[in-house]
Amino acid sequence: MKPAPFNLLRPRSVDEALGLLQSYRDEAKVLAGGQSLVPLMNFRLAQPHYLIDLNGVEGLDKIEIDDQTLSLGAMVRQRDVEGSPSIAERLPILREAIEQVAHPAIRNRGTVGGSMVHADPSAELPLIATALDANFHLRSAQANRSVAAKDFYQGYLLTDIAPDELLVGIDFRLPPAACGWCCSEITRRHGDFAIVAVAVVLGLGGDRRIAFVRVALGGVGPAPLRVEAAEAALLGEWPGAEPFRRAADIATQAVDPPSDIHASSSYRRHVARVLVRRALSVAESRVATRRDPGPFDSAQGRPFPRGETEHLRAASSREPNGSSGPGERISIAVAVNGVRRTATVEPRCSLVDFLRHDLGLVGTHVGCEHGVCGACTIMLDGRTVRSCLLFAAQADGAEIITIEGIGTNEALHPLQLAFRQHHALQCGFCTPGMILAALELLRDHADPTEEEIRVGLGGNLCMCTGYVNIVRAVRAAAQERKTV
Ligand SMILES: Cc1cc2nc3c(=O)[nH]c(=O)nc-3n(C[C@H](O)[C@H](O)[C@H](O)COP(=O)(O)OP(=O)(O)OC[C@H]3O[C@@H](n4cnc5c(N)ncnc54)[C@H](O)[C@@H]3O)c2cc1C
Ligand code: FES
Ligand code: FES
Repeated sequence: MKPAPFNLLRPRSVDEALGLLQSYRDEAKVLAGGQSLVPLMNFRLAQPHYLIDLNGVEGLDKIEIDDQTLSLGAMVRQRDVEGSPSIAERLPILREAIEQVAHPAIRNRGTVGGSMVHADPSAELPLIATALDANFHLRSAQANRSVAAKDFYQGYLLTDIAPDELLVGIDFRLPPAACGWCCSEITRRHGDFAIVAVAVVLGLGGDRRIAFVRVALGGVGPAPLRVEAAEAALLGEWPGAEPFRRAADIATQAVDPPSDIHASSSYRRHVARVLVRRALSVAESRVATRRDPGPFDSAQGRPFPRGETEHLRAASSREPNGSSGPGERISIAVAVNGVRRTATVEPRCSLVDFLRHDLGLVGTHVGCEHGVCGACTIMLDGRTVRSCLLFAAQADGAEIITIEGIGTNEALHPLQLAFRQHHALQCGFCTPGMILAALELLRDHADPTEEEIRVGLGGNLCMCTGYVNIVRAVRAAAQERKTV
């Protein structure tokens, strides 16, 4: 077990969570999706004594949209934003940004609020919040307050949130309907944190001059930055190469990017200039166009073939207000590959350790233990997750599918057959995670292109570098399904 021992506290309401935060303040950490916090805990860079798990708190996962505002609860999963047709229609830049956050299995679990509070200066969601001057709603046991994005972000991984406060929701004021938009970034690989990211929203008046514009940059300083000087230079101009170049120069002068192992300051500055110019052009080309919401809708999505995960859901043993101390074990009940399993686990026991050591399901592999390699990918309630970034106690009441559950030695799953036929495995270490990720990909894309397969599996690393045959196998499985 990697994290230091902790007490797991599982409130059911916001008030209860606030009471716990008030009691434990600096000794406590709030757990949302765990996609940033659990890697830190696995490295022991974070060692909270109390972990307040928000995943059972009711009412924090609402998506509400009216003529003027998109309101997101703090616990809305990133993948649900990505799959929302109304967000794709009304605030397409948010969807475009989220598609660039990590990989599907991480977005399935990661929350909007967690990303906002983690406050990585390269992160896409804080960038969009800054561009649109979103409002953050904070609550403590004593008071409620709202903070504008420009005041919320105060430095590197630093926000205005106090130790006893909870972020409960974020409001985005919608830009005028006919605006164009672009969120774009330079990364080493798709899904990595951005070296530099840009967000632009652009609207034209009746005379076709620029009447509304937002320009923000991420990865160029300790916090995302809205470049109001560049916006001022664009307002009232006709859109075109020259004003876009001028605005890009102004934006570049406004930033003082750091040098680090990923890029030098001068490289970041150069990339910022190029990205601002390009993003303005793309946004202009999208003025008054609408984006197709696309095939993915998380509410309707199912793994293929139909019925594959229709196993009996385990009865949850979870009691409201459940909490447990560092040495105490927690009773859980899960349905793993259709079989109900009960056990007691230590709070810090990861789901992958539980599957491998307690249940003997060693088909799920464990590599990096901080969410990067994808070897531990499984399905939890129909969505892929990194089982190294979940605690077993969090899976109580859930339905889990591991590689052992998708085929048998006598009757391999179509994806397993395709992997064998196309020599898509060498040492086989990455294969279980690849197949689970491919299962979800083929659920969401009936006939994926090579590019979609590469992006969909981008979070699963193959140390043997067998990517060409892996892509070929997934493509073949998709073709095979079409002909059945
Ligand atoms: C391999 C990998 C690649 C990634 N790539 C990207 C990327 O390209 N872009 C990107 O933006 N992110 C990336 N992430 C991070 C991911 O987006 C996380 O989901 C996100 O940063 C944190 O959200 P979470 O819900 O997982 O929060 P958690 O990890 O649970 O929490 C993060 C922090 O916020 C606090 N917190 C959470 N919710 C609240 C709340 N409601 N009120 C108060 N405090 C709260 C927690 O205490 C913790 O300090 C990546 C993660 C991994 C593992
Ligand atoms: S992502 Fe979980 S072990 Fe690497
Ligand atoms: S087949 Fe060896 S790691 Fe992918």
